[in-house]
Amino acid sequence: MHPYYRPRRLRETEIIRNLCAETLLDYNKLIMPYFVIEGAHINQPIESMPGINRLSIDNLLKTLEADVATGVQSVILFGIPYEKDEKASGAYDDNGIVQKACREIKKHFPELLVITDVCLCEYTSHGHCGMVVNNRIDNDSTLNLLAKTAVSHALAGADVVAPSDMMDGRIEAIRTALDEAGLFHIPILSYAAKYASAFYGPFRDAAGSAPQFGDRRSYQMDFRNAREALKEVYLDIEEGADIIMVKPALAYLDVLYRVKQAVDVPVCAYNVSGEYSMVKAATTLGFGDEARLVREVMTAIFRAGADMVISYHTVDILKNRWFD
Ligand code: PBG
Repeated sequence: MHPYYRPRRLRETEIIRNLCAETLLDYNKLIMPYFVIEGAHINQPIESMPGINRLSIDNLLKTLEADVATGVQSVILFGIPYEKDEKASGAYDDNGIVQKACREIKKHFPELLVITDVCLCEYTSHGHCGMVVNNRIDNDSTLNLLAKTAVSHALAGADVVAPSDMMDGRIEAIRTALDEAGLFHIPILSYAAKYASAFYGPFRDAAGSAPQFGDRRSYQMDFRNAREALKEVYLDIEEGADIIMVKPALAYLDVLYRVKQAVDVPVCAYNVSGEYSMVKAATTLGFGDEARLVREVMTAIFRAGADMVISYHTVDILKNRWFD
């Protein structure tokens, strides 16, 4: 009888489809990003990221109260300081915005896993992720500042530090500094394969971190390259990264897949701002169903190999039980 092979046999009912499903969605695998800004009573919508706001610490705590109740267990923090300068002083100031936020969060939500983004771009007047020397982004003079930033985050209560700057040698510099400060137990989640991407547009609007001259292509990866991601990932693991990240996620699922096959450390994917905003824009225009789009996007990222995902959809997913 033809056809002899009938894959449709396993698609007949929900029950058999569930038995055969290769990828399961898990609420425990999600990390929610927050933008925390200096000041009080601030709850500023970010135009390019509908549903995401810049929050002062008081409002962040209120928002977390609700979000933790819906099931948020892990967060990543991005800081927006009062002032920016050439040396990114706000990044490693013990009274900087992220440091203060960590202390307050830990006071009220000791169980919450707090990851901090370690980078200078939100704190530099020029918006680059490193020091500018003779119009170039200077690698080695940046390392010490990144290490100081990571240590001050950890001392303020961060559970995990996540360097996103893409300077060479930063993982080693940060690991050494953490260990010298006795912070042996703090893991490093390295943005190891981070591409120079147009999908970060809404984030830069949110954090006010767009570079004032040039772009980030002298430190972030060229999106034409996939093998190079393995080089970055191996280097970071050798330097002491505990978890490595591929970023962005959606346009880089091939990279995510390759990295997952190649390494034995957990792999994180960052479902970045532009990916979030695309889904939001499409659903606002009535071009798609948000729940179904988000479920399919998240499934694709996990199917490609992510062990965990940073996503701005996290709170919506939890609130609406989109993974059930
Ligand atoms: C900081 C940083 C960026 C993102 C995370 N950390 C922006 C950038 O590199 O320009 C992007 C996150 C997103 O788009 O959601 N270096």
